[in-house]
Amino acid sequence: MKVLLVNGSPHPRGCTYTALKIVEEALNNEGIETEIFQVGIKPMTGCIACMKCAEDGKCVFKDKVNEFAELAKDADGFVFGSPVHYAAASGSMTSFMDRLFYSTYVSGQRLFRLKPGAAIASARRAGTTATLDQLNKYMTWGEMPVVSSQYWNMVHGRTPEDVMKDEEGVQIMRVLGKNMAWVLKCKEAGLKAGIALPEEEARSLTDFIR
Ligand SMILES: Cc1cc2nc3c(=O)[nH]c(=O)nc-3n(C[C@H](O)[C@H](O)[C@H](O)COP(=O)(O)O)c2cc1C
Repeated sequence: MKVLLVNGSPHPRGCTYTALKIVEEALNNEGIETEIFQVGIKPMTGCIACMKCAEDGKCVFKDKVNEFAELAKDADGFVFGSPVHYAAASGSMTSFMDRLFYSTYVSGQRLFRLKPGAAIASARRAGTTATLDQLNKYMTWGEMPVVSSQYWNMVHGRTPEDVMKDEEGVQIMRVLGKNMAWVLKCKEAGLKAGIALPEEEARSLTDFIR
C-alpha cells in the first residue's frame, strides 16, 4: 500500500515538509510505502473553468496537477500539507487542489473516492484551523474518509528546527501516520473479508434555483 504526501509549500525542505516527514516515518514503520510530492515554485494557475478536462481526461495545463493525478491512480491514501499563507492554504496549493479534484472528477476518474486522506497545516502562529478546514473540504467533497489524530493536524514554527521543538505537533503527526496506516489496513482487511466499497450514487445537483 502506498500513501502520497503533498508538500504545498514553496520550501521543499521547510516546516510543512518536516511535518510530512514525521507522518511518513510513522507510515513506513507500519509497512506502508510513501512518496513526498512537491507542488514546487513554478507558477500554478487557478482553474479557468474551461471544462476541457471533461473532454481530455486531464487538466488543460501541463503541470504538477496532471503529474500528480497519474501518481494518484496507484495510491491508496493521501496527506495534503500546506503552510498557512494569510490564514489559508498557500496560493499554489489552493490552485493545485482546485484543478486536481475538479479535473479528475469531471473527467470521470475516481482517484480519491473512498481512499483515506488527511490534511496538515504549518504556521508560525495562526490560521491553521482555517487552513485545515479548507483542505478537509476537498476530501469530504470527494467521498474520502478523513483520518484524524489526537488534535487538529498542525505544527508551529518558522524553521524545521522550530517544528521539531513543537513536541505536541510532532506527536500529532506521528499519531496521524499510525492512524492512517490502521485505516488503510482495516480497509484492506474489509475488502478481503467481502465488505465491498459502497456503490457510487449519481450526484443530484440542485442549484437552489430549480
Ligand atoms: C505569504 C505568507 C503568508 C503567511 N501568512 C501566515 C499566517 O497567516 N499565519 C502564520 O502563522 N504564518 C504565516 N506565514 C508563515 C508561514 O506559515 C510559516 O512560516 C510556515 O511554517 C512556513 O512553512 P514552510 O516552511 O513549509 O513554507 C506566512 C508566510 C508567507 C510566506
